[in-house]
Amino acid sequence: MARLSFIIVVFLLCVSFIYATKIVDVNTICKNTINPSFCSTLLNSKSGASRDLVSLAQYTIDVAHTNATNTINLIEKLIAQKGSSEEAQMHYHSCLSHFNEIVDILVDSKVLLKRKIYDSAVQEANSIRIHVDNCISGDSPGESPYHDTSLLPKYAAIVDQVAQIISTIENYLVPA
Ligand SMILES: *[C@@H]1O[C@H](CO)[C@@H](O)[C@H](O)[C@H]1NC(C)=O
Repeated sequence: MARLSFIIVVFLLCVSFIYATKIVDVNTICKNTINPSFCSTLLNSKSGASRDLVSLAQYTIDVAHTNATNTINLIEKLIAQKGSSEEAQMHYHSCLSHFNEIVDILVDSKVLLKRKIYDSAVQEANSIRIHVDNCISGDSPGESPYHDTSLLPKYAAIVDQVAQIISTIENYLVPA
């Protein structure tokens, strides 16, 4: 009898372990993203043993946070540049507010993940992509995008790709 309950306890521990650490293969996560090779390079660059979905999501949010902060630093340099047009100034100020918003969203996302509120976390990741798009394409529909020859579109595209990876990972965590 004691032996049977021991087996049951071990079984239950295994089941709860599997549920607590949901694991999905990196290639499966990445195959539906904008740039699968960028995605697998990023996810495989995570050091440490924990490769469960929550750890991968946390890691990817941290990467996005770094990338968004780098983007803000770049925008501030562009704003400080002398002799830029009024159109350029408007564009960069608009992008600055979008990227400040993105950093706030990323900070919130970490909290949502800790609290296991995965559906809202997915929405947050998707709203990051909308902010990136509004920065690049302009805020109002029909507005012609500013022809930006700086590094900003490249930085913004990275934040967009990373946000899509976050959204993809978190989607696996949303209960069916
Ligand atoms: C994005 O973040 C990663 C990881 O922190 C870093 O290696 C990469 O250089 C960053 N890229 C940009 C454009 O900020």
